[in-house]
Amino acid sequence: MKIAFIGIGKVGSALAGNLSKAGHEVTVGARDPYSENVLSALEHAPQLKVMTIRDAVISAEVVFLATPFEANKEALLHAGSLNGKIIVDCTNPIGPGLTHLLKSEISGGESVQKLVPEAMVVKAFTIYGYENFIDSHYPGYGTLKPAMLIAGNDDKAKTTVAELCKELGWEPIDTGDISMSLHLEHMTLLWIKMVHMKGFGTGLTWAMLTRR
Ligand SMILES: NC(=O)c1ccc[n+]([C@@H]2O[C@H](COP(=O)([O-])OP(=O)(O)OC[C@H]3O[C@@H](n4cnc5c(N)ncnc54)[C@H](OP(=O)(O)O)[C@@H]3O)[C@@H](O)[C@H]2O)c1
Repeated sequence: MKIAFIGIGKVGSALAGNLSKAGHEVTVGARDPYSENVLSALEHAPQLKVMTIRDAVISAEVVFLATPFEANKEALLHAGSLNGKIIVDCTNPIGPGLTHLLKSEISGGESVQKLVPEAMVVKAFTIYGYENFIDSHYPGYGTLKPAMLIAGNDDKAKTTVAELCKELGWEPIDTGDISMSLHLEHMTLLWIKMVHMKGFGTGLTWAMLTRR
């Protein structure tokens, strides 16, 4: 599958490198092709192709948005037409003092979908730290996989993103439409507080158990 990345920092480089290793054709859309982030990503995954954001996005079926939340609007402006494309929104609206930047009045996921109404936004790869995107292996739990909660309005787009999650070692869980992003964003805040204030390690993830 042709996949583009806008944002190739900690999250982008982890996911781009692993998707590329899984056999996908991954391009990086960069505002500066020589930024420290781009050079570091290339050090770990020299096979990544770097180009302008518009050129990277043009032929991609799936576009990962992995920019600081506040930069989303500007980054997407450089992307050109996103008509019919799947946008994986990896961004988190984190405000001062580990609060929800949008005061929980609207989710970041919905705000991204509003920026690109012609695209199908799926919120994914947000509720944990990037360390787990570098390495999603949890030996010792049998077939139980760490859960990746996703949200979005388009079922087909969610199926595609769920497949990518599986390829990267996650158990995808479809939580519902894009408004569910709000709850995912609060899970992010929970994760950060548990890891950085309560001493859980960065390897913390959650798994799902159900009784039917
Ligand atoms: N860090 C985590 O553990 C984690 C986990 C889950 C989700 N997230 C979310 O994922 C997003 C990325 O986080 P990160 O830690 O990977 O950030 P990061 O390491 O700071 O990387 C940010 C990337 O975005 C690019 N960028 C910034 N402003 C841009 C703009 N206006 N146009 C185009 N590209 C721009 C940067 O480009 P340059 O290379 O030119 O600087 C860089 O490649 C954030 O929204 C964050 O909340 C983070």
